[in-house]
Amino acid sequence: MAIKIKNQKQIDGIRKSSRLAASVLKYLEEFVVPGNTTKFINDKALEYILDHGAKSATLGYGGHGSVPFSGAVCTSVNEVICHGVPNQYELKDGDILNIDVTTILDGYFGDTCKMYPIGDISKNAQDLIDVTRECLAIGVNECKPGNRFGNIGYEIQRFAEGKGYGVVWQFCGHGVGLKFHEDPEVSHVGQKNTGKRMKPGMIFTIEPMINEGVAECIIDRSDGWTARTRDRKLSAQFEHTILITPDGRELLTDVYGEY
Ligand code: MF3
Ligand code: CO
Ligand code: CO
Repeated sequence: MAIKIKNQKQIDGIRKSSRLAASVLKYLEEFVVPGNTTKFINDKALEYILDHGAKSATLGYGGHGSVPFSGAVCTSVNEVICHGVPNQYELKDGDILNIDVTTILDGYFGDTCKMYPIGDISKNAQDLIDVTRECLAIGVNECKPGNRFGNIGYEIQRFAEGKGYGVVWQFCGHGVGLKFHEDPEVSHVGQKNTGKRMKPGMIFTIEPMINEGVAECIIDRSDGWTARTRDRKLSAQFEHTILITPDGRELLTDVYGEY
């Protein structure tokens, strides 16, 4: 399928939704502390999203599993790679948490995630988070008109594997904006100079999932969603929604200028 080129009205709408999604991640910071459950954080997120006239795209989403997703956000702790379902788990000192939020505002989708350290975390955990953030920055650096999508995965894989980490290949970034998941699939592994070319008006995510150990994942059979590392070692992820512009890109979810 062709990759959609968004018009100005759509870009403005997707930018607004993306900025809201980013502000949810910011708002949640104060609640990500030892003793709080991931369900409590979920409920805070949902309240904030609804208060801002938006909806959660994940709540009731059924795109990957047979059971609709029950969270307003994904909460993925420690060895959970992605799609963690908010539940009664109480965060504890030393945990690492990913929160992934996708908003629908006036029909437009924005998608972003980041890592939250809980209290004091190990050096291993901090190094993994730092490298994963850098992987997203490396992917973002490839975003410009004329460049090919394969170069995103090629550069991320080269960097992360060079540090001895595993790069998840079973989940990808994706076109986003008018729907939750659009073309193209944006792989975080790949071959140099392969894939379609980027053009102004394309909007997609880059969302590398980087594992301390092996790249492979196992999906929890009891909920059909939670994806864990096969070796139960840690995993981290960061995600931005990105617009290709005539002279480069705009990070629609980077409201706080971290990239
Ligand atoms: N937000 C995730 C992504 O980045 C998708 C979550 S789907 C869910 O693509 F159903 F698990 F919420
Ligand atoms: Co996404
Ligand atoms: Co996401």
